[in-house]
Amino acid sequence: MFYEPKNGDHGLAKNPFNSLVIPRPIGWISTVDKDGVFNLAPYSFFNAVCYRPPTVMFSAGTSSNDDSLKDSARNAETSGEFVCNLATWDTREQMNKSSATLPPAGDEIALTGLTPIAGKLVSAPRIAEAPVHLECRYLKTTEIPGWDSGDSYKVVFGEVIGIHISDEFITDKGLVDVAKMMPIGRLGYNDYTRVNGDSLFTLNRPD
Ligand SMILES: Cc1cc2nc3c(=O)[nH]c(=O)nc-3n(C[C@H](O)[C@H](O)[C@H](O)COP(=O)(O)O)c2cc1C
Repeated sequence: MFYEPKNGDHGLAKNPFNSLVIPRPIGWISTVDKDGVFNLAPYSFFNAVCYRPPTVMFSAGTSSNDDSLKDSARNAETSGEFVCNLATWDTREQMNKSSATLPPAGDEIALTGLTPIAGKLVSAPRIAEAPVHLECRYLKTTEIPGWDSGDSYKVVFGEVIGIHISDEFITDKGLVDVAKMMPIGRLGYNDYTRVNGDSLFTLNRPD
């Protein structure tokens, strides 16, 4: 089959796009607003985009808030900082719950019963239950206009300036034990996948 997204003529039960760019890592973004209120939300339009300096991005769609901005994007822009927490099999339910649409003054970390801990270099909180935290300094926002009027995406970039890895996930050989961490990835619809010892495989690159 072939279709042109703008025509929407896929003829399928649901828009398949999110099922075709998969699996997507989940940036579980924690921020703090100007009043000190914590915020946490998952973003699967998320990825690492540069190595040196390590740089990540997440893309926030339009919100029903007064200013149309999702809290994570607004807080990253106003505070100049955010943290990406690694979502894992153990925290899947809390990750999902933290996507609830709360008013800006709502704290999803409190809502989910997760534990906020202080960042080392940033004021945004880290999630204690996550095995990895990327402390980020806000770099820039690129706005992608949506098809409908008033609809747009804020693609927020940040430089990773501090990285925490729980020691229990570092092997004797000095590698990150990804299979033990069991990160989850987003598929289409409401489906997810997880990395574990069975799903992980190695390919050595050609010389
Ligand atoms: C797994 C998952 C991935 C999501 N990815 C995105 C995304 O990439 N962009 C987006 O705008 N919303 C995404 N959402 C929805 C947001 O998490 C949701 O709108 C949330 O309320 C935004 O919170 P905030 O306003 O506190 O930032 C995702 C939800 C889930 C469960």
